[in-house]
Amino acid sequence: MAFNIAIDGPAGAGKSTIAKLVAKKLSYIYVDTGAMYRAMALYFLRKGIAPQDEKAVSAACDEITVTLSCESGEQQVYLNGENVNGLIRTEEVGKATSIVSAYAKVREKLTQLQREMAQTTDLIMDGRDIGTCVLPQAQVKIYLTASVETRGKRRFLELQEKGTGCRLETICQDIKNRDEQDMNRKLSPLRQAEDAVLVDSSFLTIEQVVERILEIVEEKE
Ligand code: DC
Repeated sequence: MAFNIAIDGPAGAGKSTIAKLVAKKLSYIYVDTGAMYRAMALYFLRKGIAPQDEKAVSAACDEITVTLSCESGEQQVYLNGENVNGLIRTEEVGKATSIVSAYAKVREKLTQLQREMAQTTDLIMDGRDIGTCVLPQAQVKIYLTASVETRGKRRFLELQEKGTGCRLETICQDIKNRDEQDMNRKLSPLRQAEDAVLVDSSFLTIEQVVERILEIVEEKE
């Protein structure tokens, strides 16, 4: 049986940075499920389908094929055969993703794909519902979180580095809204699985979080 590590937590807690590093250390495949939801949202936006229109979004789901590949150690997301990695990280796509990821048809499609991948491959998968819903049998479950202020500051610095003007207050408010949406939706809301280990990264360096997770994995292996 494949060894699966599930990492869930709110936006900006550092899941993908940490999961990538842990995957490298363990020579596991890293699967960023948020990117899969983002690729689907990009499709709806391009088609002019309003994210709020659940009926239209659900009807269009069958037109979409999302595939992942690992190229030079980096996950690449393909939307109907097109590499959309560089197009899915915008605020517009992020907001649309938070809305469409609440729909049953969207979740069913990606959950099935994620389970298929995890069956045969040792992997570390990050998202919102991996430990609670996608891989309830995962050998290791981590709930990685950080305070809104910490996550806001990290995002603020990231945007500043890219030369994008922004206000810290606005970013923190956006984070709160995203948390609210992800935690209070009916289907697969973001929450800590009962058997997940809580790791709060607010006052930890990236290296410390990676170390902590590797310790947890070692205990379970
Ligand atoms: O991790 P991220 O910021 O790329 O996720 C984008 C959105 O996708 C986020 O609003 C929650 C949603 N998502 C989800 O519902 N389930 C997952 N397993 C991963 C992401």
